[in-house]
Formats: sequence, C-alpha cells, structure tokens
Amino acid sequence: MTDSTAAERVVIVGGSSGMGLALATALVEQGAEVVIAGRSADRLADAERSLPAGPGKLRSIVADIASESDIERLFGETGLIDHVVTTAVDVEGVYQPIASFDLTLARKTLDAKLIGPALLAKHARITPGGSLTFTSGIAAYRPGPGSSIVAAANGALASLAYALAVEMGPTRVNVVSPGWIDTPIWDTIAGAAKTERHQQLADRLPVGRIGQPAEVAAAMLAVMRNPFITGTVLHVDGGQRLV
Ligand SMILES: NC(=O)c1ccc[n+]([C@@H]2O[C@H](COP(=O)([O-])OP(=O)(O)OC[C@H]3O[C@@H](n4cnc5c(N)ncnc54)[C@H](OP(=O)(O)O)[C@@H]3O)[C@@H](O)[C@H]2O)c1
Repeated sequence: MTDSTAAERVVIVGGSSGMGLALATALVEQGAEVVIAGRSADRLADAERSLPAGPGKLRSIVADIASESDIERLFGETGLIDHVVTTAVDVEGVYQPIASFDLTLARKTLDAKLIGPALLAKHARITPGGSLTFTSGIAAYRPGPGSSIVAAANGALASLAYALAVEMGPTRVNVVSPGWIDTPIWDTIAGAAKTERHQQLADRLPVGRIGQPAEVAAAMLAVMRNPFITGTVLHVDGGQRLV
C-alpha cells in the first residue's frame, strides 16, 4: 500500500460464499473497503446482508471471472486497489471419471480457476507492493479418482502464480491451497454424503478435523499483507498432503 493509514481496498471474486465470504467478513471487521464479486446478484445480496456492519465498507459487483468484459468492467468500477483475491469456481458435474470427461464442464472449471486469474492479473490496477492471491486446492497434491480436471487446474495455477510473480513485481502473486474446508461447495460435491465424507477424512488428518473458511481467510490475509511473500503456495490443509 502507498499510505499505511488508508483503509485497505480489496476485491474478492467469489466473495459471496465460503472462503471468499469469510475473508470479506474479516476484512470488513478490520475496517477495509471490500468489493465482493460473483455471478449471482441474489447470492451477493445475501452475502451483504450476512456481513457485520462496519467499520469497513462493502459493496458488490456482479461479474463472471471467465468473462473478460466483466473483469474489465469490474476494475473500471473499483479503480486502484491494494489486493485482489479469487476463490471462484463452480464444480457442478466436473468430478467425473475420465471416461465421462465432458469438454464443456472441464472448460468451465479451467476458465474459472486458471484463465480467470490471468484476466484479473491483466486488468486489475494494483498499488505498488499490493497483491494477487489465487485459490488452488488439495486435489493438485492428493488427487482422488474423478478429480483430474480440478487437480490439473489447481496444479497449473501454482505455475501461473510463479510466472506472474516474476513478471508483475513489485505486485506480489501467491496461491493459497486449501484442504477440505466446510463450505457450501460440499453440497455440490457430496450432497447428502457430505457429513460422512468429512468425518472419514477428519479421522485420518493429523489435526483430527476438516477446516473452517475463516482459517483459510486468515492464511489469505497473511500472504496478502506480508510484503516479502511472493510466488508462494501456502497450504492450509490440516496435514492432508501427508496422509
Ligand atoms: N471447500 C473445500 O473443501 C475446497 C477444497 C479445496 C479447494 N477449494 C477451492 O477453494 C475455492 C473456494 O471454494 P469454496 O468452498 O469457498 O466455494 P463456494 O462456497 O462454492 O464459493 C464459490 C464462490 O465463487 C463464486 N463463483 C463461482 N464461479 C464463478 C465465476 N465464474 N465467476 C465469479 N464468481 C464465481 C460463487 O458465486 P456465484 O456462484 O454466484 O458465481 C461463490 O461466491 C475454490 O477455488 C475451490 O476449488 C475448496
């Protein structure tokens, strides 16, 4: 940031749910000026209603991370900012064995997780020393059957961040890689089996439980704000890569 007394200005694409919403909540509580973006105006409005009042300011902008015109418009409306974070993904239908590979669904996932972050890097106007933070995930490191497209997107996202960190300095570019975190995405991934699957993993993890969105948000705040962290993947997975 240029002025340490000014409120942080942060854009969170995916800020209407899960980890992005947890990050928005923490930032508003700390006095930041936050813009949350996502595809659904209703979901954004629900998120705004759920957030605490001040001391920070929150507004929402409808934007699809996979649309270049949406991303240009988003940053046209926000102006200069300090930090950009994306947690955006829609995994509906994409966890499939490769025999059921669906090109449209695969491209939707890759657009949101990999191409979208490149669009953010292209269009965001970030103050010197500010940051971009992308969200990958454990599928890159401990893939299960049916997770090949998500694994590939998450793995490639780290390489995108390394390359952008070199190209965009002093803007810093990092990735946070969550393990299993209890967010609404699990209603799509596992449906009624969600609690059982979470318990099965919790029993194996060194920390004995799955994660909470606020724990990922805390890691995002750490990489955003530490001026010497760039080109890094920070794992927030309760030790899942080790078991
Ligand atoms: N939860 C886990 O266990 C877990 C584990 C590993 C990795 N991750 C990764 O962590 C990230 C966050 O996951 P989460 O669990 O917080 O998910 P979530 O609760 O489902 O939230 C996803 C957010 O992304 C937005 N979004 C989806 N597609 C978008 C698009 N094309 N453009 C703009 N916004 C879009 C959604 O809003 P709209 O639908 O309204 O657009 C929503 O706000 C994801 O990248 C996910 O792959 C999650």
